[in-house]
Amino acid sequence: MSILVTGGAGFIGSHTCVELLEAGYDIIVLDNFYNSKSESLKRVKEITNKDLKFYECDIRDRKGLDEIFAKENVEAVIHFAGLKAVGESCQKPLEYYDNNIGGTVTLCEAMRDAGCKKIVFSSSATVYGSENISPLKETMKTGGTTNPYGTTKYYIEQILTDLYASDNEWSVVLLRYFNPIGAHESGRIGENPNGIPNNLMPYISQVAVGKRECLSVFGNDYDTHDGTGVRDYIHVVDLALGHIKALEKALKETGCNVYNLGTGKGYSVLDLVKAFEEASGVKINYKIAPRRDGDIATCYSDPSKAKEELGWVAERGLDKMCEDTWRWQSQNPDGF
Ligand code: NAD
Ligand code: WQD
Repeated sequence: MSILVTGGAGFIGSHTCVELLEAGYDIIVLDNFYNSKSESLKRVKEITNKDLKFYECDIRDRKGLDEIFAKENVEAVIHFAGLKAVGESCQKPLEYYDNNIGGTVTLCEAMRDAGCKKIVFSSSATVYGSENISPLKETMKTGGTTNPYGTTKYYIEQILTDLYASDNEWSVVLLRYFNPIGAHESGRIGENPNGIPNNLMPYISQVAVGKRECLSVFGNDYDTHDGTGVRDYIHVVDLALGHIKALEKALKETGCNVYNLGTGKGYSVLDLVKAFEEASGVKINYKIAPRRDGDIATCYSDPSKAKEELGWVAERGLDKMCEDTWRWQSQNPDGF
């Protein structure tokens, strides 16, 4: 029996593949390389000294999926594949709805018809919208998302919830990630954004390595301890380990469960800049810029449900997140 990992060549997927292989699972990766390179999977194999199967396939390709399910003995799916750029989703909403929602529906149809009814899904803290007050709990109202990307995550959660309601043989685990950063401590795999990074950590690390001149800090007049935005940064390896716990739950019992994966601690933009400077020994050039549209002051999790029900806690602190990002970025300045 194998675990199918969609989007397994990407940032979070590749780190999860390492932890799955280390935990002794047989894995099959499916990716269309829209936002990743095959080199990441080569390095997953190098880190673990274990093999994996790979299919270059799109989750919207029903025939391709059927062939994989017919050939392989897939016990459960960890579903990372999707588009994730918030700004781009406002320019290309149809592409986002088609890829993320259409792709997930096609994947679930193929799973159902193959009798594979266990899925762990990559959701996001973005489903909490902008009205809830942190710490964010799974019981809070979701929706009111402010961009098509976030709306795809909200709709997919609903689709998977409805799927379980219609057929209680399914095991659905919805994981709401907060802000994943960091890299594998080997320095061999990490985040590899195309073009100018949208997210804070890759921007900081590209400034550190000399690829970008200056970080723009989007707003210093928020109601936070230093005026800059506060987020719940989580080490990608902790996040990957959360998937192992979620998978164990999905393999063990049916149901539809949702968990926050965060640390429960909030750090500001300037806290992150300072921690990165300490970890790397490099001064980060930054300037204060206007607020970015759609940003909120503060967003962090209450991670207690994952601790109680999955036995999972994020263990790596901000220093480790910065140290590992720096190792990856400085050893691979141009990514893969
Ligand atoms: P990523 O872009 O690095 O990985 C996604 C992978 O999916 C890529 O390898 C890409 O090529 C592949 N892919 C995209 N569309 C596909 C399709 N139609 N068919 C097959 N493969 C396809 O992103 P990531 O940061 O690793 O994120 C993984 C998942 O987690 C995504 O669903 C994302 O929305 C979600 N998520 C990410 C974050 C974050 O900040 N990184 C936060 C919350 C949720
Ligand atoms: C963090 C903080 C910015 C860049 C996004 C998505 C979310 C989830 C994770 C997928 C904010 C500030 C940023 C920069 C800055 N992804 N910032 N200068 O916006 O919390 O979350 O990624 O699901 O859905 O929205 O993350 O890293 O973009 O920003 O000052 O150049 O850094 O204003 O306060 P965000 P981020």
